[in-house]
Amino acid sequence: MLADKDRIFTNLYGYQPWNLSAAQARGDWDDTKALMARGQDAIIEEIKASGLRGRGGAGFPTGLKWSFMPKESKDGRPSFLVINADESEPGSCKDREIIRHDPHKLIEGALVAGYAMRARAAYIYIRGEYIREAEVLEAAVAEAYAAGLIGKNASKSGYDFDVFVHRGAGAYICGEETAMIESLEGKKGQPRLKPPFPAGAGLYGCPTTVNNVESIAVAPTILRRGAAWFSSFGRENNKGTKLFQISGHVNKPCVVEEAMSIPFSELIEKHCGGVTGGRDNLLAVIPGGSSVPLVPAAEIWDAPMDFDGLKAVGSGLGTAAVIVMNKSTDIVRAIERLSYFYKHESCGQCTPCREGTGWMWRVMNRLRTGDAAIEEIDMLQQVTKQVEGHTICALGDAAAWPIQGLIKHFRPELERRIAENVREAAE
Ligand code: NAI
Ligand code: SF4
Repeated sequence: MLADKDRIFTNLYGYQPWNLSAAQARGDWDDTKALMARGQDAIIEEIKASGLRGRGGAGFPTGLKWSFMPKESKDGRPSFLVINADESEPGSCKDREIIRHDPHKLIEGALVAGYAMRARAAYIYIRGEYIREAEVLEAAVAEAYAAGLIGKNASKSGYDFDVFVHRGAGAYICGEETAMIESLEGKKGQPRLKPPFPAGAGLYGCPTTVNNVESIAVAPTILRRGAAWFSSFGRENNKGTKLFQISGHVNKPCVVEEAMSIPFSELIEKHCGGVTGGRDNLLAVIPGGSSVPLVPAAEIWDAPMDFDGLKAVGSGLGTAAVIVMNKSTDIVRAIERLSYFYKHESCGQCTPCREGTGWMWRVMNRLRTGDAAIEEIDMLQQVTKQVEGHTICALGDAAAWPIQGLIKHFRPELERRIAENVREAAE
């Protein structure tokens, strides 16, 4: 279990105030100028050496992403940092805890990361439903400006850096980085084709890096404690500490910072008081937010909770939002509900996703109510394959994978329902 002294988020549960003086007492904003004085390239190298991989779900190496930003401005164009606080993945609730209890970690992280990437400003795009969190964040940004920590000559570094908080309006797709950029520009939030990646053409056509809240908030601590300290947790390719969010059928759902690669069993037993009804009552787990396939009980129990460990069991770490389902779960109904979510949130601009999510949900609905024909199981599988990999953004894949996981692991249950004609009233 991670020792308290190795926790980055020391106020994760809000036992202390979030405000500037309390944050400074916890070590935030401690001689930020000295961190910046190490130089832009040195900061990026330190983050690279730490092994930090993006905490928003995709796990792209953070330092490498920062290094894509231009060192010189072309045609006088500024560069920008966009911080993705549009946390909307079902099961995910970690960025929310950072923002409401430790907002200064994020703002200081924005400054050092923005400086390293030669960004003129950071835009923090916060989920529209996070109303109280946005209020805290705006107040913390105001505190940082008033104290001279950001703005002109930020933290007396000689570097000018602004931070803007932008509230989203409730669309899941605006969490996709290019849809977020479109939305920030005042347009309808629809993903762009990549490439070009944002570092080439991002916000207002300028070089931009989009990073998740957690990725940015851990940066100052990594710089203070060193890359070697951070990379001493976890294992090769899966380094550092990580916020895990465990919901569903556990005795104590929680958000907890742990070392990467902690076994699933340890995470659940030590931090969540075990599975409701005991280990034998575990049915399946969605280990990384709803966009990754479910894993049956027997395969997840000893799995290391990291990118490679969960890939090895056919799933992924995603945002590390661990949704635990015990045997009281109607697994078909649960996945049908997710498929409705993706149908609802599809932005509609590419045909396989717009039409496919509707098809998948309608068949899932029939499977749930017992009205499907047996051959529809294979047809559904084919539809998921036609959507997967054939869309502009990852939402299409995310809609396909939970269903593929259901068919792979719970086909007998689907067949039983059809054979027994289990009829439920459609909602
Ligand atoms: P992605 O793999 O396309 O990209 C990840 C990041 O790496 C992006 O910033 C991208 O610009 C950058 N990148 C990738 N290849 C690059 C290259 N060749 N050159 C330059 N930059 C490159 O994944 P995406 O679509 O950004 O994220 C998908 C993930 O998001 C899913 O795995 C899911 O877990 C997660 N997600 C998280 C949500 C949340 O609420 N936090 C909501 C929905 C999905
Ligand atoms: Fe929009 Fe879906 Fe296409 Fe993504 S995959 S761009 S959400 S239609």
